This record gives sequence, structure tokens and C-alpha cells, in this order.
Amino acid sequence: MEIRPATPEDLAAMPALRRYIAEETPRHRAFIKHVLPMDDMYLALIDGEFAGSVITDDHLWGRGFVWLLWVEAGFRWQGLATALMRHAEKLASPPRLFTSTSHSNLAAQRLFEELGYERSGELRWIDDPGLDLYYSKAVKPRGEL
Ligand SMILES: CC(C)(COP(=O)(O)OP(=O)(O)OC[C@H]1O[C@@H](n2cnc3c(N)ncnc32)[C@H](O)[C@@H]1OP(=O)(O)O)[C@@H](O)C(=O)NCCC(=O)NCCS
Repeated sequence: MEIRPATPEDLAAMPALRRYIAEETPRHRAFIKHVLPMDDMYLALIDGEFAGSVITDDHLWGRGFVWLLWVEAGFRWQGLATALMRHAEKLASPPRLFTSTSHSNLAAQRLFEELGYERSGELRWIDDPGLDLYYSKAVKPRGEL
């Protein structure tokens, strides 16, 4: 597996990436198009094929935040989300990396808890009328394992 920054050119080269973006909600689609040229979206590739992605930056008041995490259906349960989250953790500035998921997403909740994330709070109305759960985890300075 390879993890590398996504480029706008990847959209032309990878039908699965195009399909993923097309299937997202208008809000998510606009966000993905906004971050693509900024190198804040990373792709997980298996044999050159789009298998998953993570969008992460430090725009939450200077703190690292994972905005979107996605693994293609055919590549799930193989540790890809774990690898993408670990990638985001390596990029994040200390002291903590934050992320969120909806109250109904039990898979993501279990994933974050298995990776050592702690609940940091809740926010209502982002996904009207649902509840989003926020998580965070302490991260080490870059280069320190
Ligand atoms: C949630 C998601 C990212 C998991 O990706 P994945 O590559 O299959 O996850 P991993 O293989 O790294 O799994 C790691 C752990 O996460 C948990 N997990 C993953 N998928 C799960 C599921 N469907 N149900 C319950 N737990 C799940 C398990 O604890 C798993 O550990 P285990 O294999 O030892 O049981 C993927 O299903 C996905 O893209 N879903 C749609 C988008 C989404 O929900 N994004 C998440 C945040 S918004």
C-alpha cells in the first residue's frame, strides 16, 4: 500500500476517486475540491488503484483535525483506515489530533476507540439534525515514534 498526497490530476486518472467524489454530498464534494490543490488530501493506493483517503490539516485553531476518512467498500477490513489515521497522526502537530464522526457511525467510533482516541465532546446541527461525536488523541512531535 502507498499513501501519498492527492493531486487534481488524480481525478482524471482514477475513476474510483472520481466516483467517490461524485457520490459525496454537495457539501463534502465542495470541501474535497477545495482541499485537493492544497495537498491536504491523502490517497491510499493498492497496486495504483484508489482504495481510500484521508483529509487532514491543522486548521482547527492550529490543531490537527481529520475531516474526512474513507475506505472503498472492496478494501475495507484490511487495516487501511488504521494506516490512514496513523499517517494523519504522523503529520499532526502536538499536542493532540482531533477528529469526529456521526453518532450513528458505530464502525468509525470503534475504529477511533481502538486507535486510542478519547471522546472530546459533541456538536449538534453540523449534519442537520444529527449529533457529531468529537475525538482526540495525544500525538508526539514529528520524528518521535
Ligand atoms: C469506517 C471505515 C473508515 C473503516 O475502514 P477500514 O479500512 O475497514 O478499517 P480498518 O480495517 O482499519 O479497521 C480497524 C478497526 O475499526 C473497526 N471497524 C472497522 N469497520 C468496522 C465496522 N464495519 N463495524 C465495526 N467496527 C469496524 C474495528 O474495530 C476494526 O478493528 P478489527 O479489524 O480488529 O476488528 C470504513 O468502513 C469507511 O470508509 N466507512 C465509510 C466512511 C466512514 O464512515 N468514515 C469514517 C469517519 S466519518
